Amino acid sequence: MQIAQDNQLLTVADADAMSEEENLRLFKKHIGHNLGKMLSMLGFADTIPVRAEGMHITMNDGRDILDMTGHVGVLVAGHNHPRIIEARRKWGERQGLETWKFFPSPYQGALCHNLSLLFPEDLEIVFFCNSGAEANEGAMKLAQKYAGQDRKLVAYTDISFHGKTHATLTVSGSEQHQNHHFNKLENCHMVKYGDIGELRQLVESNVDRKGVSKVGTFIVEAIRTEGVVKPDSLYFRQVRELCDQYDIVLIFDEIYTGFGRTGKMFAFEHHGVCPDICTFSKAFGGGKATFAAFITRPTIYNKAYAKMNEATLHSTTYNGYGEEIVTSLEVLNIIQDERLVDNSAEVGGYLLQRLQEVQREYPELVADVRGVGLLCCIKFKSKTEKLLRMVSGTGSEAMEKFITGAIITKLFQDHNILTFTPPHDAAQLLVTPSLIIRKEHVDQFVEALKQVLGSNLWTVGFSYMKKLKG
Ligand SMILES: Cc1ncc(COP(=O)(O)O)c(C=O)c1O
Repeated sequence: MQIAQDNQLLTVADADAMSEEENLRLFKKHIGHNLGKMLSMLGFADTIPVRAEGMHITMNDGRDILDMTGHVGVLVAGHNHPRIIEARRKWGERQGLETWKFFPSPYQGALCHNLSLLFPEDLEIVFFCNSGAEANEGAMKLAQKYAGQDRKLVAYTDISFHGKTHATLTVSGSEQHQNHHFNKLENCHMVKYGDIGELRQLVESNVDRKGVSKVGTFIVEAIRTEGVVKPDSLYFRQVRELCDQYDIVLIFDEIYTGFGRTGKMFAFEHHGVCPDICTFSKAFGGGKATFAAFITRPTIYNKAYAKMNEATLHSTTYNGYGEEIVTSLEVLNIIQDERLVDNSAEVGGYLLQRLQEVQREYPELVADVRGVGLLCCIKFKSKTEKLLRMVSGTGSEAMEKFITGAIITKLFQDHNILTFTPPHDAAQLLVTPSLIIRKEHVDQFVEALKQVLGSNLWTVGFSYMKKLKG
């Protein structure tokens, strides 16, 4: 039944009562036709989630879905952790000040204190914001203000993603296919990820007669999320030395990896190297708050923004509101109390081991598996002979989507497991479940994946392709 009428506002109760068809119709009309089509092709639009708890999502047809995505990494403590719900409920009921624009907030103070304990060295000055891209924009502005007008050059890596605002897109090497549609920030230079020689060459070829390099900022991920790329630690130690030598602000983007995802609190700990600015989001909001931040050293902050007339050079309206702060305070305590970082290392190791077993069993379909903690990926071969014979003439990119799409659909429809593929590489599943995951969830996922890989994938693939054409 169509609930939405042209002249009538809908309520939450109306949304609760909406049918699957009406839901998809409104989604396609107002949010994105092709996005709706894509979700429909994967089988995600046939039912509606009605409840989510821990590792599971309950659909309106009664199915319990095991969530192996962590919802693109935000669900550090699972769906609707009772302590987070309780903290937010209590906060709401007390009817306290939410906005904290004109008074120093003790809750912000407590959260910053906690962050300064979790981060190494003197990383202790925090700026709150609402998304990963916004945190990276803020970090790049801070670095540029610190470095000064003569040292405007920004170095970034070819394998990277830092967000989809103009500035962050410019420094996202993995977004080359879409970067040409948009205006780019000037003075940004791409170097090869993991190659100290290219970075050194850029820095040193821009040194003036006084020995000062025009490169003032380097933004990089300590472990690249998609494809789980982990350059060796020597590279990062050399990066740190080079940045120290030329006073370059080193920014680590821990938007996806921060707070335990890789089996350590922060991915940079794998390399024993500390940044000058670190950006984080996703896990920080515990899947409840749309929250992000960056943290820096007093030396950086004081040189950039310490003057009275420069204190608000970088600001935003939605910065450290009460419910967000209270949520993150609770999240950080849950991570500590439930030893989620240790769980990430332990269960993540088990997940990798079991995925390697899948690769050994299905070498014709699985090209590679990689993992650090609960950041794992499975790369599929794009041109398996069998599948190519079935859909001759199909280009390799479509082929990759065909295979991965078929696997995601089958896992969801036949095995009640939610998985996803990252935007820049449709030939892989990125497996980033919540850090509360247990080994039995891993077993359930791996057994289902084996059955899917052993099944008639192209019947699913074809119905998937048919929906694409329809
Ligand atoms: C490493 C990394 N940086 C930045 C971002 C951008 O974050 P947001 O989507 O919140 O803007 C993402 C998002 O996935 C990310 O994975």
